[in-house]
Amino acid sequence: MDEGDRNVGRETEAMAESYAPDLGISPAACVIDKPIDPCIIVIFGASGDLTARKLIPSLYHLYLNKGLPPSFAIVGCSRTGWSRQDFQEHMERSIREAGSLDTAPWNEFAERLYYQTVQYDSPASYEGLATALRRIDEKHGTGENRVFYLALPPSLYQTVGETLGQAGLSRDDENGGGWARIVIEKPFGRDLETARDLNNSLRQSFQEHQIYRIDHYLAKETVQNMLVFRFANAIFEPIWNRSYIDYVKITAAETLGVEHRAGYYEEAGVLRDVFQNHMMQLLAITAMEPPSVFEADRVQDEKAKVFRCLRPFAVDSVDEHLTLGQYGPGTIGDTAVPGYRDEPGVRPGSLTATFALMRVFVDNWRWQGVPFYVMSGKRLARKLTEIVIQFKEVPHSMFRHVLGEHITANRLILGVQPDEKITCTFQTKNPGATFCLRSVTMDFDYHQNYQGPRLDAYEKALLDCMQGDHMLFWRQDGVELSWSFLTPILDECENCSERAERLRFYRSGSWGPLGAQDMEGFSRFRSTGSF
Ligand code: BG6
Repeated sequence: MDEGDRNVGRETEAMAESYAPDLGISPAACVIDKPIDPCIIVIFGASGDLTARKLIPSLYHLYLNKGLPPSFAIVGCSRTGWSRQDFQEHMERSIREAGSLDTAPWNEFAERLYYQTVQYDSPASYEGLATALRRIDEKHGTGENRVFYLALPPSLYQTVGETLGQAGLSRDDENGGGWARIVIEKPFGRDLETARDLNNSLRQSFQEHQIYRIDHYLAKETVQNMLVFRFANAIFEPIWNRSYIDYVKITAAETLGVEHRAGYYEEAGVLRDVFQNHMMQLLAITAMEPPSVFEADRVQDEKAKVFRCLRPFAVDSVDEHLTLGQYGPGTIGDTAVPGYRDEPGVRPGSLTATFALMRVFVDNWRWQGVPFYVMSGKRLARKLTEIVIQFKEVPHSMFRHVLGEHITANRLILGVQPDEKITCTFQTKNPGATFCLRSVTMDFDYHQNYQGPRLDAYEKALLDCMQGDHMLFWRQDGVELSWSFLTPILDECENCSERAERLRFYRSGSWGPLGAQDMEGFSRFRSTGSF
C-alpha cells in the first residue's frame, strides 16, 4: 500500500468517525446491566392508587422485559380485607384499563402475587407477615431478600418503619443471609424538623444504605440524560457558567388538577409537593459541578453542594422572589374544569397554593448573579417539563449597524416531558439576496434511532432499588439541605398576616397568575416562547 492509499484509508476512517458510531448494544442489554438478587417486593398500601396505577404495572413491564430476577415474588399488604385472588384481580383490571394485557404472561406473573391483610401499627400483623414471607422464600427461593415499598400516606412511614424493625424484618445480613431495603415515597417530612425526626426514627431500624428515598423525577430518562449531556460532552461545560448564561428557567407545568388527592394536597401545596423534591433535583442537576466519578455518593456530594449554595430569601423580600397562585375555574382543552376551591375535599376559602414561580440564586463562583426561575403549577395551559438555558447575547454585534436588528441570543432547551428532546436555537442568514437573520433550531429527539424497550420512571427506580443502586434516590443530607432552604420560606408564607393577599388566582388553562409578570426578569422569561 503506497502513501496515497494510506491517506485515503485514514480519510475514510476519519469520515467514519465523524458519524455517531452505532455501538451495537442490544436493546435487551439496556434494561439490566448487572444481575439482580432474588427478592420479595413487599408493597404496603397495596389497595391504594399508587400500587394499581404505577407499582404493579411497572413490575409487570419489568417482568415482560426480563428486568426482574428469575426468582421473585410480590406481596401486597394493606388494611383492606382482600383475598389473594381479589388482589390479583384488582391489579389485572387496572392494567387492562390502562392498556392491553396478554393473558399468558400475566397469568405467570400473577402466580407470584400474594396478599396479606395488615394493621400498620399491630406487631401481630408483622409477625404474620414475617411467617408468610418465610413461606414464600421457601417456595420461590427468594433468599430472605426484601424490598419494603411504603406506598402509604406519609403519616404512616414512621409507624411502619419502626414496626418492621421490631419484627426483625429490617435485618440486613452482609454475609448473604438476606438483605432488607425500605423505599419511602415523597414528601420526606413536611419541614426540616419533621424530616429529621422521620430519619431518626427510620435509622433505629434501618441503616442509611438500606433506605431509598424515592423521587420519580430522577428516574425519568431525560433527567438521567442531563448528567450525560453535561459531562460526557466537552463542548457544553466550558460555557455552562455565569460568563455565558443569562438565566436558567426550570418549568414543570401540568394540566391535571388536584384530582382525588385533596386530603394530602391541602397540607402540602405546590412547595412541598414538587418544589422540595422534583424541582430542587432539576435545579441541582443543572447547576452541579462534575463529580469525580459516576458513583451515587459522589453525585450526591455535588448536589448537596448546590443546595448549600442556595441564597436564602430575606424574610422581608419574599415577594420579590416568589409568586404563589391558585387555580380558578377555566377550560383545559375543550373541557370546563372547576377551580381548586370547588374540588372535592378542598376546604372552602382554602389558601393552598397550586402554582409557584420562584427566583433562586446559587451563590458560588460558577453561578453568581444568574437567576434560576423555577416554576411549577397545576391546571396550566399544557403539560410541559423542561429546562431552558438562556445564553447571553453576543458581546458585540457587528451586524447591528448594518441591520439595526436585535440578535436573539442562543438558547438550549432540555425537554423532559412530554417532548423528550434537546433543542439548540441559533442564528443563521436567511437565504436570498438581502441580509436578514433568522433563528433556527437543531433538534435531537431522545428516542431517535432507538427501537428497544423503554423504562418508565417507576420501573427504573424499582430496578435500581433491587440492584442496590442509590444514584437516583435522595440522600438524607440532600433532603435536609433542601428543607433548610424551603422551611423559612414556608414559615413566612403560611404564617404571615398577608397570606390571603399573597395568593394570586389564575384561570385553569392559562400560564399562571398574571401578576407573576411583576417579578424582575419575568417578562423576558415569558418571551422565550414556551410560556
Ligand atoms: C408527583 C406530585 O410527585 O408528581 C403530583 O405529587 C404531580 O402532584 C406529579 O402531579 C407529576 O409527575 P409527572 O411525572 O406527571 O410530571
